[in-house]
Amino acid sequence: MQYRQLGKSELQVPTVIFGAWAIGGWNWGGSDDELAVRAIRASIDAGANAIDTAPVYGFGRSERVVGRAIAGRRDAVIVMTKVGLRWDDERGEFYFQTADEDGKTLRVHRNLRPWSIAHEVEQSLKRLATDRIDLLQVHWPDPQVPIAETMGALLALKKAGKVRAIGVSNFAPRMIEEASYALGDVPLASAQPRYSLVHRDIERDVLPYCRKNDIGVIVYSPLEQGLLTGKVTSSRSFATSDGRHKRPTFTPENRAKVNELLGTVVKPIADRRGATVAQVVLAWILAQPGITSVIAGARTPDQARENAAAGSALLEPEDLALIRKAFESLTLAVPAAGSNTSAIARFFRKWTQ
Ligand SMILES: NC(=O)c1ccc[n+]([C@@H]2O[C@H](COP(=O)([O-])OP(=O)(O)OC[C@H]3O[C@@H](n4cnc5c(N)ncnc54)[C@H](OP(=O)(O)O)[C@@H]3O)[C@@H](O)[C@H]2O)c1
Repeated sequence: MQYRQLGKSELQVPTVIFGAWAIGGWNWGGSDDELAVRAIRASIDAGANAIDTAPVYGFGRSERVVGRAIAGRRDAVIVMTKVGLRWDDERGEFYFQTADEDGKTLRVHRNLRPWSIAHEVEQSLKRLATDRIDLLQVHWPDPQVPIAETMGALLALKKAGKVRAIGVSNFAPRMIEEASYALGDVPLASAQPRYSLVHRDIERDVLPYCRKNDIGVIVYSPLEQGLLTGKVTSSRSFATSDGRHKRPTFTPENRAKVNELLGTVVKPIADRRGATVAQVVLAWILAQPGITSVIAGARTPDQARENAAAGSALLEPEDLALIRKAFESLTLAVPAAGSNTSAIARFFRKWTQ
């Protein structure tokens, strides 16, 4: 495993971070807590000792499972969580409606007001069974709250010793700049955008901006929620409680196109380098300039170990170029209007115009 400094912060993070969304169960067709605890511990044992979670993942469940998994080894782990999405309070801007695992309807609101952040952090500390969060990230921007007001609340938490470093997620460059400015002498440690071989938009803006300003970039959904592992075959089906059953990238046509490239381009490279397809896909991201780490979701100890080992997998320049060229020629079906992705695009447009 390689470790890199996260921006200008004091944190040294592994290049592979354990993503704890799926183990919250919600939107992933359920989860098995015992298996999840073992998966997290396997990740830590393999050197991938940073965990990215959020209060909204399973509405507290992911953080509770992380808390159980790191009990007794807290000092060896870097805990990353988030603020800004409330399912337990109706104030703020309505974001989306969903249902928990018992079918109860929940209305999620964005809220980055200081009082809401202070409340959320106390809840997270309890669920994680810890006295500090190593990296606290804004989960999604809140258009109703000035960024400076939110950053002021995060600074106060840092001053109080409850938070060691501050990050943002799903922020456009202009918003990242505003957040950095508001933090003054305290560096903005990181941005957490989406990035994978089939979602490379950040190469145009976020990545160059962060690279230039020495802000860490830890990317989410690097395996495109499993699609880029080669394990999502045409016959694999997903439960209706698993968001992938209706995700546009998982249509039969898109699966076929992706698997064709994985089979003809990525698998031969993986075989030559003694790696798996998933490891090559993660290693490709880690070789891109400006990327600090990948946040790879895992549900089993085997997946966690396989992903962690990608932190040491090395690809030659010709491998990197071959993979890029292949995926640049790939066009996946455009997400349908009203999907989460187009909502994100609309939101970014609003902020960047
Ligand atoms: N900031 C944000 O807004 C945001 C948004 C999304 C995610 N995230 C963070 O990023 C993390 C990762 O993203 P993600 O979970 O969306 O997607 P991902 O990491 O691209 O994919 C994770 C899924 O792929 C499958 N998988 C993982 N490793 C595998 C392996 N070695 N072989 C075969 N299948 C494997 C697993 O699902 P199955 O076993 O069920 O196939 C796993 O749940 C999340 O956990 C979360 O921490 C943040």
